[in-house]
Amino acid sequence: MKNTDTKEEIYARLPETLLPWYRANARDLPWRKDREPYHVWVSEIMLQQTRVEAVRGYYERFLKALPDIKSLAEIPEEALLKLWEGLGYYSRARNLQKAAKCILGNHGGVFPSDFDAVRALPGIGDYTAGAVCSICYEMPTPAVDGNVLRITARMSGNTAPIDLPETKKAVANALKEVYPKGHCGDFTQSLMELGACVCTPKSPKCGECPAKDFCFAKANGCADKLPVKLPKREKRVEPRTVFLLECSGAFAVCKRESKGLLAGLWQLPNTDGALSPEAALETVSGFGAEPIELLKETHKVHIFTHIRWEMVGYHILCKEKCDRFLWATPKELQSTYALPTAFRIFLDEE
Ligand code: ADE
Repeated sequence: MKNTDTKEEIYARLPETLLPWYRANARDLPWRKDREPYHVWVSEIMLQQTRVEAVRGYYERFLKALPDIKSLAEIPEEALLKLWEGLGYYSRARNLQKAAKCILGNHGGVFPSDFDAVRALPGIGDYTAGAVCSICYEMPTPAVDGNVLRITARMSGNTAPIDLPETKKAVANALKEVYPKGHCGDFTQSLMELGACVCTPKSPKCGECPAKDFCFAKANGCADKLPVKLPKREKRVEPRTVFLLECSGAFAVCKRESKGLLAGLWQLPNTDGALSPEAALETVSGFGAEPIELLKETHKVHIFTHIRWEMVGYHILCKEKCDRFLWATPKELQSTYALPTAFRIFLDEE
């Protein structure tokens, strides 16, 4: 086995190695323009489970619409969800607003600067609290996400499964020991940057890595074996039928239930199971929409954290704008109603 540095020695070399590399190579990202806590907080929430490229546009539009904590606290929920439309994991948006209200009510409208107070806000876990406090306040508070777990597993040859909370805790504790005073924010971001741009999950660019001289995985040619993960829980497959019902240039939408998947968002009418065209037309008759013609059948897949929707969509021309639905024009669907991607993909076909 090559590279016999101890785990502690490897961690200790990270700041001196990553900080100069980060300063020379950091991507120009909109949330790196300043360290205003509100801005950093919004960006870190958006970046959870979402790619940087997907977040860029949303971040700028969100802050233009809601430039401060007060405007976030006061925006009607419908309009907030519309700003979030397409980003997914909508509880993130609701928690942002809950936290904004809490900051107005309990912290005089000023984002807290105490770690425990930040951590106590709705929607903020160890990762986000660590990121915000290190970036905004130069606190030695690690932000351990999948990127950081992958980097540290490879560099130190750690084979503990990264899904286990104790692995995350051990990595956070080891990093805390080496956080560089006065440069905590850049150190946090340098770890994220290395994970996003060099030490990637597949085909890492080890030749370009600033830590290649002491990385365990590079020395032993095992970057593809690390990190170790527990076997994934299989996603539950759910066949669904989605109805794109059109009447006089408007489309039927309705609200989802207030609990569960995509809670409280708008949806196209849909039902469990994959219906045949005949059964679909019969179901639409049952809604009272009086189907005239089946215009198109489309097949789409949408993947949530634990569920895979395998959908058949029927675009059906109808005679009646029946009462059980709200009938919205494409313009209204664009401007007003937050329709999650799982449904919007059927409209985008048209
Ligand atoms: N992923 C999570 N936080 C990030 C950040 N601040 N910059 C880039 N990618 C990130």
